[in-house]
Amino acid sequence: MKVAVLMGGWSAEREVSLTSGRGIADACRSLGHDVIEIDMGRNLAQQLLSAAPDVVFNALHGTPGEDGSVQGVMDLLGIPYTHSGLTTSAIAIDKELTKKILVPAGIPMPQGRIVASETLFEADPLPRPYVLKPVNEGSSVGVAIVTNNSNHGQPIRRDVPGPWAEFPTLLAEPFIAGKELTVAVLGDEALAVTELKPVSGFYDYDAKYTDGVTVHECPAQLPADVEAAALAHALAAHRALGCRGTSRSDFRWDPDQGLAGLFLLEVNTQPGMTPLSLVPEQAKYRGISYEQLVQRLIDTAIA
Ligand code: DAL
Ligand code: MG
Repeated sequence: MKVAVLMGGWSAEREVSLTSGRGIADACRSLGHDVIEIDMGRNLAQQLLSAAPDVVFNALHGTPGEDGSVQGVMDLLGIPYTHSGLTTSAIAIDKELTKKILVPAGIPMPQGRIVASETLFEADPLPRPYVLKPVNEGSSVGVAIVTNNSNHGQPIRRDVPGPWAEFPTLLAEPFIAGKELTVAVLGDEALAVTELKPVSGFYDYDAKYTDGVTVHECPAQLPADVEAAALAHALAAHRALGCRGTSRSDFRWDPDQGLAGLFLLEVNTQPGMTPLSLVPEQAKYRGISYEQLVQRLIDTAIA
């Protein structure tokens, strides 16, 4: 089968996507497929028409590969592709829009608010500690935690580097103390819960992609009810959003609050496929090799 692996592009996660894409392309070759690697340009339609693949493996992360735009191009061209379709992608990339679907579906998520970055220099939008993040970036790009001690308790200073310099609006959410958990869904099954334990600080971009900086505990050592709830919420979120192939839901859990301390933060429709990424890791734990995972996603795309 002729598989085009779509990677790169110009999002803030370009390098992550290239790493995912190369791993996928190698796996496709060892599966015996004819592989074309495409670094997405603005002439994507042309690139796809001249490659004429049987299927596209979408290894893009961030905009526009994860927000429905690229999915729309492939729909127009009539080329089957892996992962979620246009509408699901457009909703899931937006952390605020995602809440409008998932909270009414009974999935607990932190109650945040969208704030104009300019207002942050006047007053805190929420009681501290709180988290600021762009609504539609991945890999923790642009995430800042405002603690009780930040700027000695005074509002954020404009001259301090932070996401407020780059993003005119941000999502502010209460900071949930405790643990960082993640659950991959493959097909119609939640695979496992992993706890991410950064050696220091939080699970930011460097902690995600530097070997040895974060301990991945899979399966996480959790009370049975919390583990079951995380698995159930990830599967319910995957279904409610209409995800296809795979998704990965990220959670925070505050052990002091028991089950009530579990919150889903976001659903990733184009989760990382790098050597340190969590979907391949959970698949492996469940006895599914990287190559088998790649083939399953291709099979779902052409089904
Ligand atoms: N946004 C990155 C690639 C992830 O969710 O794994
Ligand atoms: Mg994400």
